Amino acid sequence: MKILVLVGSLRAGSINRAVASALPALAPADVEFEVFEGMGDVPLYNQDLDTAEPPAAVAHLRDSIRAADALLFLTPEYNHSIPGVLKNAIDWASRPMFDSCLTGKSAAVVVSGPGRGGVRAFIATAGILRDLAVHVILHPEVVLNEAFTKLEIAADGTATVVDPVSAKLLGVLLDQLRLAALERAGDTNQRTLHALRSALMG
Ligand code: FNR
Repeated sequence: MKILVLVGSLRAGSINRAVASALPALAPADVEFEVFEGMGDVPLYNQDLDTAEPPAAVAHLRDSIRAADALLFLTPEYNHSIPGVLKNAIDWASRPMFDSCLTGKSAAVVVSGPGRGGVRAFIATAGILRDLAVHVILHPEVVLNEAFTKLEIAADGTATVVDPVSAKLLGVLLDQLRLAALERAGDTNQRTLHALRSALMG
């Protein structure tokens, strides 16, 4: 099973990016993680460009999401909410409205940062995804705030979760995400969206 990881920070020394490297050790053995590398190439959303032939970086984003069994959003909190980079990628991924690559996917959100914030970014990101008919795993809610007390980040940028509670929570979350994807929990959303599309568009 492949989980696509979408990181909400573009900076080279990103804590959130480092968290991705800690996940395989905490996840069930049959889970494979792929970090989406094209986030910085996704242009600012412009409906004029959102045609049958969107920009190549957008097509790559949508294809990568479609090909994944589940999605994991690793993001910092910016100004008490979701970073623009991630919101922009979700905006592109959310179209076309009734045929979005996000519809029916299972997803989880983990927020990390050095300060005490994070919960507001979790609520914002999970709320946006839920409204896009994504099946979001809400429990456990994993916010790795004060991250340097929970993670050890090596010189090469790889991280280990050294706080046992955080490691346990991440393990449970990844297990839940895997189960949700296996059970195709999103199918209900998919059916709802198809019914809505039929009702509105005939
Ligand atoms: C932040 N940061 C931050 N932290 C927080 O806990 N609550 C917040 O509202 C914000 N707001 C905010 C806005 C902007 C524009 C920046 C650049 C930063 C701090 C942020 O969590 C910290 O820089 C993280 O290290 C960013 O994540 P990465 O890049 O390490 O993954």
